[in-house]
Amino acid sequence: MRELALHILDILQNAVEAGATRVALVIVEDVPTDRLVITVRDNGRGMDAQTLAQVTQPFFTSRTTRHVGLGLPLFAAAAERADGQLTIRSQPGVGTTVDVTFTLSHPDRQPLGDMTGTLLAFLLSERTPQLDYQHRVVREGASSVEETDFSFDTADISAALAGLPLTHPAVAQWLAEFLAEGEAELTHVA
Ligand SMILES: Nc1ncnc2c1ncn2[C@@H]1O[C@H](COP(=O)(O)OP(=O)(O)O)[C@@H](O)[C@H]1O
Ligand SMILES: [Mg+2]
Repeated sequence: MRELALHILDILQNAVEAGATRVALVIVEDVPTDRLVITVRDNGRGMDAQTLAQVTQPFFTSRTTRHVGLGLPLFAAAAERADGQLTIRSQPGVGTTVDVTFTLSHPDRQPLGDMTGTLLAFLLSERTPQLDYQHRVVREGASSVEETDFSFDTADISAALAGLPLTHPAVAQWLAEFLAEGEAELTHVA
């Protein structure tokens, strides 16, 4: 069974292929509402209505190099198995938003898996857009709802690095630790 983190990497790569310069990824594990929500928003070239209608059908691809066209349908199927759904909104020239929901406690929900690995693979690849990342876990506390959160914007990280690329070995090493620690501090439910 695939991890959701691998599906998320697929969606991030779609944004890169669409020429996005900015991507926002939000993951919310919400125990009180029993939902897991994953949102990826990009400012890439977007899709026209006809393409949009086709993209959740297996094997549709606009690629001319290698033909796969399974990223979105597989993610949609994973959501549907866990009583959720994948919805896409897109506007040509503006960007695309992919929203994926799951029932958190559903026995067929795939585990979120290795988000550190997904974030590292994305951030250390070529043509990496600016990433605004937010991962929140909401759970019932003793008397109120408790929230933990790990968030960062690579614009802030890059500004602090004064020109050093994320792929610089020392930076990449720091990044791997920063991501692993940030994710580990969350009291995961997914
Ligand atoms: N974020 C996006 N922006 C623009 N087009 C997209 C985006 N995501 C997917 N698409 C379109 O949907 C098609 C199918 O995507 P996907 O199912 O991931 O398969 P693949 O990436 O292998 O083509 C892509 O080829 C592209 O035309
Ligand atoms: Mg894809």
